[in-house]
Amino acid sequence: MRVIVLAAGLGKRMKSKYPKVIHKLSGKELVNWVIDTANAISNDVAVVLGHKAELVKERIPNWVDVYIQQEQLGTAHAVMAASDFIDPKDDVLILYGDVPLISKETLIKLIKKHKNSKADVTLLTAFLDDPTGYGRIIRSKDGKFLRIVEEADLTESERAISEINTGIYVFKGERLLDALPRIRNDNAQGEYYLTDAVSMMESVETELVEDPVEIMGVNTRKHLAFLEEKLRWRVLEKLMDEGVTIVDPSTTYIDATVRIGRDTVIHPMTFVRGHTVIGEDCEIGPMTTIEDSEIGNRVRIVRSEVKGAFIESDASVGPYSRLREGSVLKRKVRVGNFVEVKKATLEENVAAQHLTYLGDAHVGAGTNVGAGTITCNYDGLRKNPTFIGENAFIGSNTALVAPVRVGKDALIGAGSVITMDVPEGSLGLGRARQVNKEEWVYKRRGKK
Ligand code: UD1
Ligand code: CA
Repeated sequence: MRVIVLAAGLGKRMKSKYPKVIHKLSGKELVNWVIDTANAISNDVAVVLGHKAELVKERIPNWVDVYIQQEQLGTAHAVMAASDFIDPKDDVLILYGDVPLISKETLIKLIKKHKNSKADVTLLTAFLDDPTGYGRIIRSKDGKFLRIVEEADLTESERAISEINTGIYVFKGERLLDALPRIRNDNAQGEYYLTDAVSMMESVETELVEDPVEIMGVNTRKHLAFLEEKLRWRVLEKLMDEGVTIVDPSTTYIDATVRIGRDTVIHPMTFVRGHTVIGEDCEIGPMTTIEDSEIGNRVRIVRSEVKGAFIESDASVGPYSRLREGSVLKRKVRVGNFVEVKKATLEENVAAQHLTYLGDAHVGAGTNVGAGTITCNYDGLRKNPTFIGENAFIGSNTALVAPVRVGKDALIGAGSVITMDVPEGSLGLGRARQVNKEEWVYKRRGKK
């Protein structure tokens, strides 16, 4: 089986600077939804691109064959652009880059029908409450397929027909190659219609799609929002079926690309995006955003922002923490309120519970980072590293001026500005010695 994904159209009604098919649905480009589904069926996938093809090309996997349709003269013209890809001895499935939710199961049913019936083409049809805009399926009195009529070419009585052409077909490669050059553009839109190839076939079969959402195309931002909402519920229901508790589905947004283990609880107003994996028995949220992060089991994250982080089991984050790109929290790490971590590894059992910035740092196991500790990693020119050994104690309000090293078991006095390395097991103090001037206040007031 070969698969051709048509995606050359501009998508004018999106009112976008970017090609329609790179707009995202649940965190993934429309065209990549289709490519991923196609790949579940075949390794031979081609896309036909046109408008701003480069922008699409750089976002799709590089094993996909790309064909360019310079001018968009209709769906048959688009397939023609990829005619070198069609193998006369193989079947070819036609999909669309802007019809993202077509499922593998439906396609398998379509292909099975095609193989069993040995038809020249098998097309996927659907019944829609509002068929406006779609090509209609015209059948004889005894239900035999006769032809497809495009919206623009419909007669008044045909307009009421609710069975539509989804535009998704499986053709015998040889039959399609034979039909394409014979298609004319003498119709209401002056386009080369792929539907005309169907009428040139000797035997035509049809298969019905059960859930019409699968064949809905995205033409406008409203369509995109509609599918986003449909998909959002689908993702949430699947997670709940798999044993994840979603406390308030109506305020929870989880991308289809996310995986979550069972008995994890997602609290309200939480967003989980991109390639995030969350383990079992976690408590996530409320009011938390997690993106492209990997999280172990029994992790608790409350009212926090987490992006590009790696968090091992039994760690706890928040409330009000921010873990940025390259944060690594090993087992049982505790990161608390108003703590920001960037490109830093916190080994097992590290605690940084209050008002801290750890950037470009490595903190050894069991170390306690006191409230208000700051790694001064940026000197105005470059980022410098801080190394802290294990079981160290960093007193509150310490500034670690990087590059700097604090040895294991070292203790830093509160309020220190540390500009020199502190050897292992030592006390580091970097602050002015305290002076007490006895009775100074009373003397100034001139009375005891
Ligand atoms: C097509 C079908 C119609 C069906 C409908 C389902 C034809 C003639 N009609 O109509 O029967 O009900 O799909 O959605 O096929 N494209 C290109 N190059 C082109 C033209 C289109 O790549 O030159 C791509 C578009 O990017 C889009 C898809 O093909 O993804 C469908 O094109 P569109 O013009 O929207 O087809 P419809 O008129 O909706
Ligand atoms: Ca059209």
